Amino acid sequence: QRHLISAADLTRDDAVLILDTAEEMARVADRPIKKLPTLRGRTVVNLFFEDSTRTRISFEAAEKRLSADVINFTAKGSSVSKGESLKDTAQTLEAMGVDAVVIRHGASGAPYRLATSGWIDAAVINAGDGTHQHPTQALLDAFTMRRRLVGRDAGIGQDLSGKRITIVGDVLHSRVARSNVDLLHTLGAEVTLVAPPTLVPVGVENWPCEISYDLDSTLSKSDAVMMLRVQRERMNAAFFPTEREYSRRYGLDGDRMAKMPEHAIVMHPGPMVRGMEITAEVADSERCTVVEQVANGVSIRMAVLYLLLGGNEPAVTHTRTEEK
Ligand code: CP
Repeated sequence: QRHLISAADLTRDDAVLILDTAEEMARVADRPIKKLPTLRGRTVVNLFFEDSTRTRISFEAAEKRLSADVINFTAKGSSVSKGESLKDTAQTLEAMGVDAVVIRHGASGAPYRLATSGWIDAAVINAGDGTHQHPTQALLDAFTMRRRLVGRDAGIGQDLSGKRITIVGDVLHSRVARSNVDLLHTLGAEVTLVAPPTLVPVGVENWPCEISYDLDSTLSKSDAVMMLRVQRERMNAAFFPTEREYSRRYGLDGDRMAKMPEHAIVMHPGPMVRGMEITAEVADSERCTVVEQVANGVSIRMAVLYLLLGGNEPAVTHTRTEEK
């Protein structure tokens, strides 16, 4: 059984295949009928133990566009609140005959446990686990960068060699940062992390990236600047940075954005805390790809589901007009 647990498990060729397949899937969204029969008769469960807007909805949209039968499970309102374990929940799903489980969980390692425990036969896709990994977010971010910095057609078959990506903010609690560092390194990009010293993880010197504490000096050398949310829900209140001090040193406002090269983009995985890590002026500017990242998330998740479950069928059957 094949799973997607960590961005670190992907080779350069795996990642480029997913990005190229996502470009094929994006063409489906341009059609009047946005549906493919690829996963007809297959059942996918979205198993969300933590809150989500973008990931949950875009997985559901991707599954429906591939004609899968979709079951949505959220921990709130389920028997998890009565103390049911992950194992018993998984075995309940297995009894219903599911083909894939998309799981978001507050505990780092929960998707790995599900994939390797023998509790279920289904493919497991990690939709974010604790502070560990969020591989489909890294893939949709790489897809967005490739489209914007290389080109939609020119990017096919290409990686992100030589692109300079700066990731800014609460790296300590960010599965998005970890996944992006792994994937961007695999794709040949140069990554710099910028964070307050208190929000840098132990062992970061072993990650394949540079570390800086000075945002202003990195901006002019960046092709993309990715802002991260300060994850207060994962912090002890005593360690909260003050909003004013944080945004003064690590927030992206119009003056700072003006220091970036003209072609450079601003990214954010969402949800954004406007005023803290990013001003409304920057979030709403044309250089900010936040909404584009959400749309690209559907294509990436279609590609991942297709490659894990779709067998040998061609991803997209093109009409003659499209082939010309
Ligand atoms: N980027 C992201 O994972 O957003 P959600 O928490 O809304 O899914």
